[in-house]
Formats: sequence, C-alpha cells, structure tokens
Amino acid sequence: MIVCDDTPIRQDSRAVIDNISNMIYYQFMKIYDIDNRIHDYRHLDWTESAVTSGTSGSLLKAREDRNKTRYYYKLSSYDPYRGIYGSECVNEIVACRLMNILGIEHLQYKLIRALVSIGGKEHETWMCRSENYRMFGERKIALDNFYEMNRKEGESPLDLCIRFGWKNTIYKMILVDYLIINRDRHGANIEVLRDVQGNMRLAPLFDNGLSFLAPLAGRDDRIKSFDPMDDVPANNFIGTRSLEHNLQLMEDIPLVDPITLDSKETLLEGLDDILPDYYLEKIWQIIWNRWKHYEDFCYKK
Ligand SMILES: Nc1ncnc2c1ncn2[C@@H]1O[C@H](COP(=O)(O)OP(=O)(O)O)[C@@H](O)[C@H]1O
Ligand SMILES: [Mg+2]
Repeated sequence: MIVCDDTPIRQDSRAVIDNISNMIYYQFMKIYDIDNRIHDYRHLDWTESAVTSGTSGSLLKAREDRNKTRYYYKLSSYDPYRGIYGSECVNEIVACRLMNILGIEHLQYKLIRALVSIGGKEHETWMCRSENYRMFGERKIALDNFYEMNRKEGESPLDLCIRFGWKNTIYKMILVDYLIINRDRHGANIEVLRDVQGNMRLAPLFDNGLSFLAPLAGRDDRIKSFDPMDDVPANNFIGTRSLEHNLQLMEDIPLVDPITLDSKETLLEGLDDILPDYYLEKIWQIIWNRWKHYEDFCYKK
C-alpha cells in the first residue's frame, strides 16, 4: 500500500525490513540530513521549472504547503531521455555539512529517497527538501535586481554589499564557493529579504548544488582525472569568473572554524550508498586541497 508522502512506501515485507534497518542505521549514526526510506512524492508538480530558466533555475523543482510549512523540493539534473542523472542533490548535502563545520549560516537541505512522477513517468531518485527560509512578511529580491535598483555610479556588486553591511556574509560565500567549486552563484542565487518595516538581510546561503563534479555527470573518465585545484570558469555575480581570484577580493579574512582530516568522515557519512567511492574521494580531495590552499592564502595575507 502506498501512503502519504511523509510515510515511506512499503511494497512488501522485504521493503519493510529494509526501511526499518535503514532507519535504525541512520538514527544510530545520527545522520539527520539523509532519509534513506522511499517516500511517495508522486503528487508533486515539477512542471513549473521545466520550462523556465535564469532566475527560476534549470533543475526541476516543486513546492507544497503542508502543516503550515512551505517545503521546497529539488531534483538533480534531468532530461527526458536520461531521466534524473546528476549529483546536485548530494552536493547540496555535502555543502551543508561543510558549512556546518565552518560555522557558516546556510539553508539546511535534507536528502530524501523518493518516488516522483515527471511527465507521467515514475522515477525513484534522491531529492532535496528545504523549509521556507523567509520569515512572515518578508519579500525576496534577487541581488542582481537589488543592485540595479540601488547601485551608485561606478559601484561594483561587492561594494554595494559592503555598503549594506553584508561584507562578512559575502566573504564567507566567496570562501564556500571556492571550496566546493560552485559554478552557479549568479545574481539570483543570492537574495535580499526585506520585511514590512523595510529591514533587510541576506537569505541564508542556498542553491549550492551545481558544484564539485556536477557538470561532469556521466563522464567517469573526466571525473577520475579531474584536478581538484582546477580554476574552472564560474558564473559569479560578485567578483570575477575565477573562484580562486575572488579570494583576493577579501580585504580581511572571515572567521570560520577549520577543516581538518577528521572532517572527511563527517562530510561523507552515509553517502557511500549513493555515490561510488572514487567519486566521494574526489569530492574530499577538492575540499581538502582547496582548504589547504586557502590556509596558505590566509597565512600570506
Ligand atoms: N527553502 C527555501 N525557502 C525560500 N525560498 C526558496 C527556498 N528554496 C528555494 N527558494 C526559492 O526558489 C528559487 C529557486 O530555488 P533554487 O534552489 O535556487 O533552485 P534552482 O537550482 O532551480 O535555481 C530561489 O531563488 C528562491 O527564491
Ligand atoms: Mg537557483
């Protein structure tokens, strides 16, 4: 019987045992950000984003209101021929764990195994879920629009953010984007939130999935030979297209907790059922090598 989306699907007794043993494993391991039981999300409508691009993003997404909470859902890269093939959702979780270690505010995503329906076809997949980060009465403005409305003559997006008191948050974002090789920090992936009194704040860091090895999906040879320090072009609204160069835009060093060799386990825990070992190892090399480079950069500064 298939029941509501909060309850895992139970097709047969084997699935029940799998679900229970997974639950015990994940709770015992205190893995709070992965739900390995299959949930029924076939009711979600993914069409909203399938035909849009730019500020709405290009990956399939959906939302629903339930129990007075608005939930946002995202899938990894999809096309009708290959189905859901990307790793963006897993990257989102690794990025969250990384920011937990560094002590950087961010949107918390949960990775959920789900049955979804796209264009009438069912897929079992991993999906990301997050809760609405906007408080009651807050409205969002993409940073690129906010910049257009508020910039002074000759002012860069970074200078505008500093003028509005967001320097620290933006410096931390530059660091995270460098560590995860985020290709997608365009002007709508940074958001200004304004409440009814006119108070403004930046949204917690969100949409970090197009990072690590995501653009190489399906190219195992290129993933294996990928140089973790490769300064690939990135679609940054702030600074330049070089994530490495953007580090130099920081006038001072943001205060974060360090990455250590022990961080590897925390970052990758529970992901070995989802991605192959060589892939996870490459993700770790990316974080670790880049962190070492960042430490050198701080030391020289
Ligand atoms: N948890 C959330 N709370 C509030 N708004 C959200 C949340 N998740 C996404 N959004 C909104 O939806 C937009 C698209 O989500 P995003 O994660 O950037 O998806 P995509 O990968 O498709 O760009 C965001 O720019 C943001 O305005
Ligand atoms: Mg986005």
